[in-house]
Amino acid sequence: MRLSRRSWAAVAALAIGSVGAASAAAFLPGVRGYALYHGYATLQASVAATEVPLPTSASRCVNCHDAAPSGAPRRVVRLDRASLVQPTARRGGPVSAYDAASFCAAVREGLDPSFVILDRTMPRFALSDDDCGALWRYVSAR
Ligand code: HEC
Repeated sequence: MRLSRRSWAAVAALAIGSVGAASAAAFLPGVRGYALYHGYATLQASVAATEVPLPTSASRCVNCHDAAPSGAPRRVVRLDRASLVQPTARRGGPVSAYDAASFCAAVREGLDPSFVILDRTMPRFALSDDDCGALWRYVSAR
């Protein structure tokens, strides 16, 4: 079968369209995780062990988990694949590593994988499973 020039154009458009959709689907969860981490999307957060709500400007992860944009020294608890997934003794507990579920427990309830409670400086977040999963995929892929 011979395809006309117009048919070839339609086939090419279809191919480009499906590749585009596939890469957008792979990319979007990372975009959500990035947006939550940097405070471009709203996070519902409170001061640990209180009902005191925190605005996103104070609760966005990047504030405490990355170096300040100016490079000024700041207490940084790095969140990335190495710090989370590598088995490590944390806070005096036994050796442990994070997975998606224990990461969400830390973010929501402030418990690390060996059930040691996180410092109160770390806010507690009320997050949907989707948002927690998006954050986990973002930080554990860095
Ligand atoms: C106001 C500062 C602050 C903000 C904002 C913050 N954290 Fe934390 N976070 C901390 C501190 C401090 C610790 C270390 C607590 C400890 O060692 O007991 C911590 C610890 C953690 C840990 C445990 C890491 C480990 O090695 O066990 C995870 C996971 C975590 N934070 C995730 C997040 C995420 C995700 C966000 C944003 C949704 C966030 N944090 C926002 C201060 C913050």
